Amino acid sequence: MSALAGRRVVVTAGPTFEDIDPVRFLGNRSSGKMGFAVAADAVARGADVVLVAGPVTLPTPEGLERIDVRSAAQMHAAVMSALPCDAYLGAAAVADYTPASVSARKLKKQPGQDALVLQLVRTRDILADVAAHAQRPQVVVGFAAETDDLEAYARAKLAAKNVDLIAANRVGVHGSGFESDDNTLIVFDARNATPLGPASKADVARGLLDLVEARLS
Ligand code: PMT
Repeated sequence: MSALAGRRVVVTAGPTFEDIDPVRFLGNRSSGKMGFAVAADAVARGADVVLVAGPVTLPTPEGLERIDVRSAAQMHAAVMSALPCDAYLGAAAVADYTPASVSARKLKKQPGQDALVLQLVRTRDILADVAAHAQRPQVVVGFAAETDDLEAYARAKLAAKNVDLIAANRVGVHGSGFESDDNTLIVFDARNATPLGPASKADVARGLLDLVEARLS
């Protein structure tokens, strides 16, 4: 029997949209496919899964609870209310910055205004807050999306956010990362680096959950 059977697992997926005004927002290219594959595989192993999804167009995998959110602040609140859990996997591409204020009215071009300065403020770090929670999950997994220096940035996140595993993927290359059906991950813990893929996101998710399972059992 899987070590995940009967365990509570919280997964985040997709982008967040940070509103600027009623018609514009700051977003990113995450489709949610990676996080949904992780959630579906956890269900297949018998886990009790909560999937916190940003704005995506994917159908809900069977057998889990899905909570839809839009912004980083909403995702933070949804994740915190889903705790405690046994394992947390943060596959969402959460905005690091959000507009300091949301205009209630559509921003209009001003005559003679050639540039617009938007003030952004830091969002709260969901992954770091989960790892620092009084009832910390037994296994906390972050993702790292990097265009370069994959290992250095991933290992820095592993330490800074006090997580157990970081699943690093290279973005900006064809057939991996955002939007693609496939992915290539290197999963880092304090000592090891485990390559997964290139393979479908379903297969990569399976490899990642094998590593989570090993830590739970
Ligand atoms: O959705 P797909 O199209 O399938 O693409 C999958 C993916 C590329 C989005 C996914 O595999 C991935 O890498 N997700 C993490 C992307 C990301 O935002 O990485 P990051 O390096 O900016 O963030 C590091 C970690 O901190 C992530 O686990 C992220 O969820 C988390 N984070 C970041 C900011 C924040 N405010 N709160 C967080 O929890």
